Parts: sequence; C-alpha cells; structure tokens
Amino acid sequence: MSTASENQEAQRVYWDGAGGDKWIKRSADIDINVAPAQQAAIEAAGVAPGMRVLDVGCGCGGSTLALAQKVGVGGKVVAADISHAMIAIAQAATRRMPQVDCMVADAATRDFGAQKFDRMFSRFGVMFFGDPVAAFARLRRALKPQGRLTFVCWRPLPENPWMLTPLAAVCKHAPRPQRPGPEDPGPFSFGDPARVRRILTEAGFAAPEFTKFDFDMDLALGRGLEAAVETASNVGAASAALTDQPPEIRAAAIAELRKELAPLERDGSVLLGAAVWIVSAACG
Ligand SMILES: C[S@@+](CC[C@H](N)C(=O)[O-])C[C@H]1O[C@@H](n2cnc3c(N)ncnc32)[C@H](O)[C@@H]1O
Repeated sequence: MSTASENQEAQRVYWDGAGGDKWIKRSADIDINVAPAQQAAIEAAGVAPGMRVLDVGCGCGGSTLALAQKVGVGGKVVAADISHAMIAIAQAATRRMPQVDCMVADAATRDFGAQKFDRMFSRFGVMFFGDPVAAFARLRRALKPQGRLTFVCWRPLPENPWMLTPLAAVCKHAPRPQRPGPEDPGPFSFGDPARVRRILTEAGFAAPEFTKFDFDMDLALGRGLEAAVETASNVGAASAALTDQPPEIRAAAIAELRKELAPLERDGSVLLGAAVWIVSAACG
C-alpha cells in the first residue's frame, strides 16, 4: 500500500507528464462532453458578478472561462493546476480576460495568500489528493467564512456506462487493470458520498449536500463509430487495460469494442450515460 505522500507524488508526476499530455489532446472534446455537468455545477455554486473564485485542478481552463464570464471584470478567478502544460493552455485561452489569474500550483499544499475566496469550484479536479483531509482543510482556510466549495465528480463506475461499457468490452480480451483501493486517489474515488462526507467534515466543512446529475455523452461527437472506438480505447480504464498489450490482444479488444458500440450509433453519434455528483459544502 502506498503512503499519502507517495500517492501525491505519483499524481503530480502523472498530471505534469503523460497524463496531462493525454488530457490536452482531448480537452476540446472533453469540454463539449462534460458541458452539461459543468453548467449544472456552476449554477449550484451560485457564482455571481464580483466574486473571487478558485478553480481547483482547472486543467486547460474550460471551467475557468465559464467562471470568468460569471464573475465579470469586477471579480477574479484564480485557476490552479499542477500541470505546467495545461496551465499554459488555460493561460492562452483566458488571455483576454483580466479577471483570470492562472497558476501552476499543487492545490493540496499551496498557500493562496491573504485574499480569501467567495467560492471554490472544481470540475473533476479534486479526486487526486494524496491526503484529501489535509488538502481540503488547507483549501477551506482560503475560503471566506460565508464561502462555499462546489465540485463535480463521477459517481461509481457501474453508474457510468460511458466508461464501463468500453472497459467490459476490452476486458473480454485484455486483463482488467487492478482496482484502486478505497482510499486511493483517482477519477472514481469520490463516488461514495459517505467517504466524501467524512473527508469534508474532517477537513472542517459543514455537512455537504450531494445532488445527482445524469447526462449523455457522445463518444463520437457526431464523427461516427470509428471516432467513438478511438475515444473509448484511449480514455480511462479501457485505455489502461490496453496499455502494453501485444498487437493481437489489442486488435481483438478493439474489435470487441467496435461490436459493442456499433448498435448504439445514430447519425454519427454514439451516446452513453454519464453520472456525477454535484457536491456543495459551506465553509463551516
Ligand atoms: C480529470 S482532470 C480535470 C481537468 C479539468 N478540470 C477538466 O475538467 O477538464 C484533473 C485535473 O486535476 C489536476 N490536479 C490533480 N491533482 C492536483 C493538485 N494536487 N493540485 C492542482 N491540480 C491538480 C490535474 O493536473 C488535472 O488537470
């Protein structure tokens, strides 16, 4: 079992390296695919003109742009991410928005200074802390007393066919990747509300509220079956299962994936269900 600091360092190396590069290649598609969840979470956050907002794990800045429009030029969005490459993209995307400051920062350990935030927001960026209680406790100290934290995270894998269906197809041929431990960081690590409630309350937040939000993701984005196969085999657990597999296993797994997705294609789109929590907690 890895320690919290080993987990944290592994995440930093991943996101500031190969994981970040992979995300960047798909970030325009990701922005489109997760737009409904982002919009629901930003509405839940109650971001208003003039507010100071921290965008945690902002990636390439998709959510930062939307938050910046909400706060207007009289507000401020500080967009923080551990990846140098992603922050460079976020910086370029928001260069005409004086209300945005982008910074390379480990949100788990960074001191964000004396000027506190009205809101903390994250689109899928807070599930990767090595020691989540310590990280959220530190983040909470950067919130104003009336401030709120709102983030969107995945519900468990079985509720997310966009990820489970490709994984199940690929794993008819390739070995299933090792399941992460219940306290390990990772994209599905905040699926259990009891765990998230414990982390946030131990970090000093008031009891969090959990709202289910369901939407469809078009793995093809209107570009047809092959685009869906390409996406599904290059993201998340299915991609991990295919890594380092010999060509014949890869070919069989991808053929299986194509067979599974083909009946779902309609007019170039391949829709699969996605399920998230929108989590909101007052500073406490
Ligand atoms: C799943 S990606 C989501 C990116 C972006 N929010 C989006 O929705 O496109 C997770 C993001 O969290 C960032 N991240 C992970 N751990 C972090 C940390 N300790 N501090 C800041 N950012 C972190 C990663 O670099 C990555 O950009």
